[in-house]
Amino acid sequence: MGIRTIITLEHPKGHMLREKAKKVTQFDAGLERLVRDMWETMREAPGVGLAAPQIAVPLRVLVAEYEEEHCALVNPEIVKMAGEVTGTEGCLSIPGYVGDNIRRAEKITVKARNEKGSPVKITAEGWFARVLQHEIDHLNGILYTDRLDRPEDLHEVGPEDEDEELAPAQKAQA
Ligand code: NI
Repeated sequence: MGIRTIITLEHPKGHMLREKAKKVTQFDAGLERLVRDMWETMREAPGVGLAAPQIAVPLRVLVAEYEEEHCALVNPEIVKMAGEVTGTEGCLSIPGYVGDNIRRAEKITVKARNEKGSPVKITAEGWFARVLQHEIDHLNGILYTDRLDRPEDLHEVGPEDEDEELAPAQKAQA
């Protein structure tokens, strides 16, 4: 299938962004194809992370990539969290906005499977940990806008803001 459509809240299937995704039970060629399509779709967007519900597939699958770190996780579970940091996030399903001061754990350990069904355990810190927490939220129907402490922390960003004014992390959508 290749590149899939990324749904927004306004999309006819936008309600799927608010639903809890189901655990994957079949590790088959269909799952491998889904993960391949998710990599392609995320990179084309471009984004640093993508969860299956964002392409209207209600399964607990995510891909994430930032600098030299990347992973595809199936049925991910956060088993350890440490520290707290605030930062700015954008979401491919909420185009044109970023949210500031979003609180996340600074360091997390995630247990999951890869697309072939092998168990994986990942420890992530800083920005990559933030991306993974954002994607795992998507699997539970949670959006970063739910985590805003103050409504004024949500900002509209126009195409003219995208090049110069924002730091690279703020331009990244997930
Ligand atoms: Ni997102």
